Amino acid sequence: TRRFFKNVVSHAKEYGYIFPSSEIYDGLSAVYDYAQNGVELKRNIREYWWKSMVQMHENIVGIDASIFMHPTTWKASGHVDAFNDPLIDNKDSKKRYRADVLIEDYCEKLFQKAQKEIEKARTRFGEAFDEEQFVATNPRVVEYLAKKKEILERMAKGLDTGDLADVKALIEELGIADPETGSKNWTDVRQFNLMFGTKLGASADTAMDLYLRPETAQGIFVNFLNVQKTGRLKIPFGIAQTGKAFRNEIVARQFIFRMREFEQMEMQFFVKPGEEMKYYEYWKETRLKWHLSLGLGKENYRYHDHEKLAHYANAATDIEFNFPFGFKELEGIHSRTDFDLKAHEEHSGRKLQFFDNDTNSSYTPFVVETSVGLDRMFLSVFSKSLQEETLEDGSTRTVLKLPAVLAPTKAAVLPLVKKDGLPELAQEIMNDLKWDFNVAYDEKDTVGRRYRRQDALGTPFCITVDHQSLEDKTVTIRHRDSMKQDRVAIAELRNLINNEVSM
Ligand code: GAP
Repeated sequence: TRRFFKNVVSHAKEYGYIFPSSEIYDGLSAVYDYAQNGVELKRNIREYWWKSMVQMHENIVGIDASIFMHPTTWKASGHVDAFNDPLIDNKDSKKRYRADVLIEDYCEKLFQKAQKEIEKARTRFGEAFDEEQFVATNPRVVEYLAKKKEILERMAKGLDTGDLADVKALIEELGIADPETGSKNWTDVRQFNLMFGTKLGASADTAMDLYLRPETAQGIFVNFLNVQKTGRLKIPFGIAQTGKAFRNEIVARQFIFRMREFEQMEMQFFVKPGEEMKYYEYWKETRLKWHLSLGLGKENYRYHDHEKLAHYANAATDIEFNFPFGFKELEGIHSRTDFDLKAHEEHSGRKLQFFDNDTNSSYTPFVVETSVGLDRMFLSVFSKSLQEETLEDGSTRTVLKLPAVLAPTKAAVLPLVKKDGLPELAQEIMNDLKWDFNVAYDEKDTVGRRYRRQDALGTPFCITVDHQSLEDKTVTIRHRDSMKQDRVAIAELRNLINNEVSM
């Protein structure tokens, strides 16, 4: 797993997808730059999301709010008081960890142990295996799962009540060691606020303390009434937004999975109080379908319903993805009640209510939120697409099987040789196709090498121009995944490719 993950990171760099930030100065921890191909993949994911949310729902509109917001926003949202991570340091290694993550990792191991028992039994009993009954009665599985539940409950209680000494006691009782050095010499647990602070204005007396937004959602809440009124929107309706968010993450590792500067794609759906569960179920299902439409494999997704809910939520689930380091949160779907709008009403003194013409009365809507990290989406798509294949002749190829709709470059045009007018015809084809999608041109190296390079870049189609092309205006089109080649008319290329790559 670790080696595969390393391959993902190095492939992303070698093929111009992701570079460490400011690399000439040895980089900046947990900050990355999207390179020439990465920016296209990211843009395509964003567009694929926007299209499905905004274009395909006549009752959802988009906005682009600022990163800076009035500081009271974060008081109202609860981020000033409660957007904290419980930290713990190892006294020997001087490494800093999130106490909750250490405990959750321990619990994940218990879960894996239970899973192993279940798989062993499944192999043993075959068709006759009754998983539900086995999970309920096998003593080892029962013990692992009960222990996991008990630990998580105790941790949640400690964090909720502020009893951080008990969280530390839990770490010690479980014998949790520094994952890197094995040392069990821990400091106390303390809370650390994740928001980045900055200042607006130059003069020392008038400068205002600001935060970089830690989520895009609040830009939607504060604009709720403006959008509703100017858009003449009726409940239920949604507001969507994509944009940067910032969190001073303590344990920022695992490449672009957890970054300090990242991008979110969020949508708040405003509904009548009492109807939130209906829409929560709708969005839960709709968002999973969206992920599945990318074709990365149904088995790589699962729901994780939250047992413990944030104070403002009455239902919450994560869509988890099977990342190279295991199943982890990709998207959150939360039923947030009227918590945010009410809090902003209270702090701003302005009414944020919907006037219902049908009943001639006003009310504060409830909100169902969908929130997915664009960078995490990128990592899910990129890591699952990267494959090492052994071919029939025993050789291997590295291929990035990106969904064609998301691939940065849709086709590469390759003249078979660099003479006889083939480059000119190839460029003519490229210049014609580039009106519709990104096309690359490559004339260096043997055509076999060029195919491999495009495979590794994730380009779904290669178009090869040969001598026959000059005579009959046909070319070969090679499909990245099957490596099959077909002879087609140049005039057909646009339609053929558009059929596969358009959103
Ligand atoms: N408005 C709700 C909200 O922000 P969240 O669960 O904190 O909820 C939503 O974040 C999504 O944003 C996550 O599911 C994840 O995909 C992404 N995300 C959160 N923190 C991140 C980070 N440090 N780096 C990359 N993505 C992150």
